[in-house]
Amino acid sequence: MDIAQAREWIEQARSVAVLTGAGISAESGLPTFRGPGGLWKSFRPEELATPGAFARDPKLVWEWYSWRREVHSRCEPNRGHVALAKLEQLKPQFTLITQNVDSLHERAGSRKIIHLHGSLWRVRCMSCGKEEQNEQVPLDPLPPRCACGGMLRPAVVWFGEALPQAAMAEAMQAATAAEVFLVAGTSSMVYPAAALPHVAMQHGARVIEVNLEATELSSLAHISLRGKSGEILPQLASP
Ligand code: APR
Repeated sequence: MDIAQAREWIEQARSVAVLTGAGISAESGLPTFRGPGGLWKSFRPEELATPGAFARDPKLVWEWYSWRREVHSRCEPNRGHVALAKLEQLKPQFTLITQNVDSLHERAGSRKIIHLHGSLWRVRCMSCGKEEQNEQVPLDPLPPRCACGGMLRPAVVWFGEALPQAAMAEAMQAATAAEVFLVAGTSSMVYPAAALPHVAMQHGARVIEVNLEATELSSLAHISLRGKSGEILPQLASP
């Protein structure tokens, strides 16, 4: 019943917005953050994903991000990513908002993407501020340097840092305009991203969640579907 209802709501909607988290990339072989085998189970975010950690030991932080880039470079998009790229083609108004720093949505064919937490494949100079794409694997030397001589940092959002303002404003806009707000593979614990489904609901959207397990959002969502996003999203995106 729930999948059929969710599919019907998505089919009827002209405007759809989607929020994804690490769970959508789990079936591609990428670890999540808080689930079993999650990154924060074996690594301490305060030692690797904060401006303070980078100031203390930029080489250690880069060694971790360089490892993550190598792991990511061996992964392929899965059926969940592909289903969302397909849904984008079907909807006149569609926005994909991701917390993920991988590029699997792009590689699956999604175009209308907002990266709230930056990208593993972009770097920013600590001196001149220039930001650019960098897909070199492995990265050598560490820490990498900008043409200006300044030290480069991963262009991702670390704990304690603000999200890119333009990206957050665009995401808020998409949430307020959505008739259906789909949430897939996120624990809905990290704000301000986790506020988006609530904003959408306040503006009349139907909120549909897809997750292996119950989250902070499950009791509030209109429909909360339990299972793998790679199995459920194709069923929701097929007309
Ligand atoms: N299909 C659907 N959901 C899944 C799957 C799957 N195959 N595998 C895992 N999940 C779910 C988990 O049950 C969990 O609720 O995905 C969620 C992943 O949650 P987190 O590990 O907390 O990742 P995320 O929500 O993306 O984290 C948010 O926190 O660490 C920071 O900046 C980082 O962007 C990240 C943010």
